[in-house]
Amino acid sequence: MVAAFSRATCTIARVKGLILSGGKGTRLRPITHTSAKQLVPIANKPILFYAVEAIVAAGIDEIGIITGDTGAEVEAAVGDGSRFGARITYIPQDAPRGLAHAVLCARHFLGDESFVMYLGDNLIRHGIIPIVETFSQVQPDALILLARVPEPQHFGVAELSEGKVVRLVEKPAQPTSDLALVGVYLFNHTVFDAIDAIDYSPRGELEITDAIQKMIDTGRRVEPHLIVEPHQALVATWKDTGRLEDMLEANRIVLDDLAPRMEGTIGEGVRLHGKVIVERGAQLSNCTVRGPAIIGENTVVDDAYIGPYTSIYYGCTLRNAELEHSIVLENSVIENVEGKIESSLIGKECLIGRSPLRPRAYKLMVGDHSRVELR
Ligand code: TTP
Repeated sequence: MVAAFSRATCTIARVKGLILSGGKGTRLRPITHTSAKQLVPIANKPILFYAVEAIVAAGIDEIGIITGDTGAEVEAAVGDGSRFGARITYIPQDAPRGLAHAVLCARHFLGDESFVMYLGDNLIRHGIIPIVETFSQVQPDALILLARVPEPQHFGVAELSEGKVVRLVEKPAQPTSDLALVGVYLFNHTVFDAIDAIDYSPRGELEITDAIQKMIDTGRRVEPHLIVEPHQALVATWKDTGRLEDMLEANRIVLDDLAPRMEGTIGEGVRLHGKVIVERGAQLSNCTVRGPAIIGENTVVDDAYIGPYTSIYYGCTLRNAELEHSIVLENSVIENVEGKIESSLIGKECLIGRSPLRPRAYKLMVGDHSRVELR
C-alpha cells in the first residue's frame, strides 16, 4: 500500500496543472457582467478553489491559470497559491479563442511536460486523484473524462468502440452516444502537434474536441475515463447546460457532503435542523434554519426561515424573509419579503425589499440579462 502510494506520488509529480479561467461566461449573465464565473461560490467557496484543491490533492503543485478580462479579480482571489500548497502562474489569454487556444497560450509554461487541464468552472465531486493515477500508470497521449448525461445535445459527446474513443462531436444535433465530455482532460506534449494542425471552428474557436479528434486520427492513444456516479457528473457538467437549476443542484450536492459547523452567534428563538454550517461572525436570531445550509461570515439572519440547500455568502442580511434552495452572493440584503424566495441566484450587493410608499407596485432596477419570475 505504502509502495503503491509513493510510486503514484513520484509519477504524478511530473504532471503540471492548467486551469482555464478566462472565457466569456455568457450563460451566467448577469452575474458575469461584473465578475468571473469561476468565482461564483458553491457552498460558499468559489468554484475555482475546488479546482485548485483537487489538483493539489492529486499531488500536483505547479499550476498555471489561464485568465481573460477578469484576470485581476481571479488573481486577487487565488493569490500566489501558497495557501493551497501550490505555485501558481497566471497566463493571460488575449481573447476567449477556445480551449485549445488557451492550451497554446500555456505552451511556454507547460514545456514538454504532461498536464491536467481543468475547466475552472467545473467541480468534480470526489476529486481527480484516480484519474491522474490512471494517466500516470497507463501513459496514454490523452485521457478524457466522460459522464452519461440525459441531454447529450448540449455537450461535447464521445463515441467509443471497443473501449477506445473513436469520435468526438461538439453539441451534436443527433447524438449517437450519451457520453458527455466532462471538463477535465490529461495530455502529454503531443497535444501541441494536434493543436498546431487544426483550424478555427465556425464559431471562431480553436476547439479542444477538434484537437483530440486530430490526436485520434493521427494514431495517438486517447483513453476514456467514465464517471459512473451520476451526482459526481452533474456537479461537473452543470455549466455546460448553462442552466441555473443545474448550478443550484451542484450547490445542493456539495452542501450534502459537508459536515455541520458552528462558528457564529446564536441568539433567542433559533432552531437549527439537520446539517447547518454557521461561519465566523454570523448572527442568527428568531429564525429556523433547515439544513443542509450554510450561512456565511458576518451574515445576519433575523426573523427568517432558511430552507434546505441554501448558501448565503458573507456580509448578507436576511430579515423578515424566507429563502430556500438558493445561492446568495456577498453583501446582499433581503428584507420584508412576502412569500418564499426559492430556486434563485442573487448576485453581490443586491437589495430585495419592500417599500412602504404607494402605489404598491413592483419597482425594479435589474441588470442586463437578468431573470425575474413573479407570482
Ligand atoms: P466555456 O464554459 O465553454 O465558455 P465560457 O466561459 O466563455 O462560457 P459561455 O459559453 O457561457 O459564454 O468555458 C469553459 C471554461 O474554460 C471556463 O472556465 C472558461 C474557460 N475558457 C478559457 O479560459 N478560455 C477560452 O477561450 C474559453 C472558450 C473558455
